[in-house]
Amino acid sequence: MKDAADASQSFAVAQDAFLKTLAEKSNGGVLRGDYSRADAQYVVAQDWSAYTPSQHALWRRLYARQAALLPGRACQAFIDNLDRMQAADGIPDFVTTSKALLAATGWTLVAVPGLVPDQTFFEHLAARRFPVTVWLRAPEEFDYIVEPDVFHDFFGHVPLLFDPVFADHLEEYGKGGLKAMALGGLPFLARLYWYTIEFGLIDTSEGLRAYGAGILSSGGEITYCLSSPMPRRIPFDVARVMRTLYKIDSYQETYFVIRSFEQLFRDTAPDFTPLYARLQGLASLPADRLSEGECNIPIR
Ligand code: PHE
Ligand code: FE
Repeated sequence: MKDAADASQSFAVAQDAFLKTLAEKSNGGVLRGDYSRADAQYVVAQDWSAYTPSQHALWRRLYARQAALLPGRACQAFIDNLDRMQAADGIPDFVTTSKALLAATGWTLVAVPGLVPDQTFFEHLAARRFPVTVWLRAPEEFDYIVEPDVFHDFFGHVPLLFDPVFADHLEEYGKGGLKAMALGGLPFLARLYWYTIEFGLIDTSEGLRAYGAGILSSGGEITYCLSSPMPRRIPFDVARVMRTLYKIDSYQETYFVIRSFEQLFRDTAPDFTPLYARLQGLASLPADRLSEGECNIPIR
């Protein structure tokens, strides 16, 4: 009993420290979610019946707007798997989606109050659990939110968890994250996540398409990333991506383009230990310019 009390005490201290660092990072604000009921893995109950009719209605509007933008912009796997989520009619119950997901690729969803510490995030992914934020944005945040909400997490990330190769890649990413923590590789691995899982583009025979969740859950960036002449679009290269800085509060200045999820899986499979060591001695690159000799993939 004493051990359990000690453990919960030390969790409370660690949680406090985590919330404080994040709050300092995010404009001195506080995190939106209610962390008071989170367990040691930051998991909470989704409490699906507490969502109000107007929240379900807001979700339907978000979903309908975004779904209409997908054809010709989202990669085929994302579009094909969207209906398997059965989430067009209201905020989904994670338990129901988890059943379908478990049968398809062995993943499940866990409910969280919002952002979680790196290690916790990696531990979930390594166990094929995807953390999904429970709260939904307010109506006045229809187009833009500061922190990821249930719409971003669910609509943006869950469709590709039904894709076997992408699902395997994300598990490997989780394991790689735990490993990177001990190697000082986290800043590099965070950039990889940002420029692939969140803002990745993929080249297909039909043209460029988006597969990143940050793009696919955004009403504006989904057209911007494929049609605007402003940003750079360059072929995916692990080391280049890991050196590239990113902005979290504007559309991306550079997108990296993969040819397939198999490529992503293959290129990230090698042991990153020597790569992290090499990158630690190199300057980071700004996202608003090409390096010497780099090509900018034309928009078609
Ligand atoms: N291969 C990486 C390593 O050895 C782990 C990793 C896999 C990282 C997939 C990201 C994505 O560290
Ligand atoms: Fe995300």
